[in-house]
Amino acid sequence: MAIFPQVRLRRLRRTETLRALVRENRVEVGDLVYPMFIVEGKGIKEEITSMPGIFRYSPDQLPLEIEEVARLKIPAVLLFGIPEHKDENGSSAYHREGVVQQAIGVIKNSVPELIVITDVCLCEYTSHGHCGVVTNEQVDNDQTLPLLAKMAVSHVEVGADIVAPSDMMDGRVKVIRESLDEKGFQHIPILSYAAKYASAFYGPFREAAESVPQFGNRRGYQMDPPNVREALREVEQDIAEGADIIMIKPALAYLDVIRQVRDAFNYPLAAYNVSGEYAMVKAAAQRGWIDERRVILETLTAIKRAGAEIILTYHAKEFARWLQDE
Ligand code: PBG
Repeated sequence: MAIFPQVRLRRLRRTETLRALVRENRVEVGDLVYPMFIVEGKGIKEEITSMPGIFRYSPDQLPLEIEEVARLKIPAVLLFGIPEHKDENGSSAYHREGVVQQAIGVIKNSVPELIVITDVCLCEYTSHGHCGVVTNEQVDNDQTLPLLAKMAVSHVEVGADIVAPSDMMDGRVKVIRESLDEKGFQHIPILSYAAKYASAFYGPFREAAESVPQFGNRRGYQMDPPNVREALREVEQDIAEGADIIMIKPALAYLDVIRQVRDAFNYPLAAYNVSGEYAMVKAAAQRGWIDERRVILETLTAIKRAGAEIILTYHAKEFARWLQDE
């Protein structure tokens, strides 16, 4: 092996053009998915306190925002709904006129080619804030499955392009696939939140989506943060059940999980740069403690380098805008 002084690794770092020539990973706008919060009502655009720059929109306020997303060439959005009415079974999650169902219609009317991904999970729709049906203070896996399938079908019926189950019930990819196929939606892919950890980094999201559990926590269904072999089993199961794209969530404290899943499976891999990760960057930037642009670029690049080719991030719009300015 050649060594110093023949080898000087600094030779290829001397100028920006040289560095660019040998750069191994690049984040492109085409890799990004922009998550959005849709609230029931009219004329609403309210900023989420713990997520500066991110808003809740009522469906009628979407066209302007969606046109901007499209202008920035962001290929896809992920929709979360905040309904007016919550109940034990999360019934407004699968209502024809539900808030996400309305939003899908509006988006497909204004920018039909934008990929609409919908989050499939009951937590924003249940009165208790859990991701499934609760019996005896326990989230009942098998009773929840048909409701998730109904929710997924109701999104696709009004135009969703991809459904993304995030509830972490066992077997949900299978029942969603079966229900979609039964209704003639064989062509609709499932993006499964395959390894979703019980993470403190979801804090700001729960404020945004009004989905804080009213009792207990989500550790009985979301994954335990210390585990990685179990994540590989979750991914294996979801693939066997019919998932088309696999997701790891959160991203930053789980880069090792992303890398291991990338090495073990030949499926498209997504990672979710979650609300708490976003909030920390914004908070430090507001105080002038970090260089925001560089931190965001470095963060997104790290997720890509770890092996995710799709990145769900609240930074999508600002990142795309910076690239256009350059
Ligand atoms: C559940 C869901 C959550 C997030 C996405 N889907 C929250 C949770 O499991 O409590 C978190 C996203 C984020 O923090 O940005 N429907």
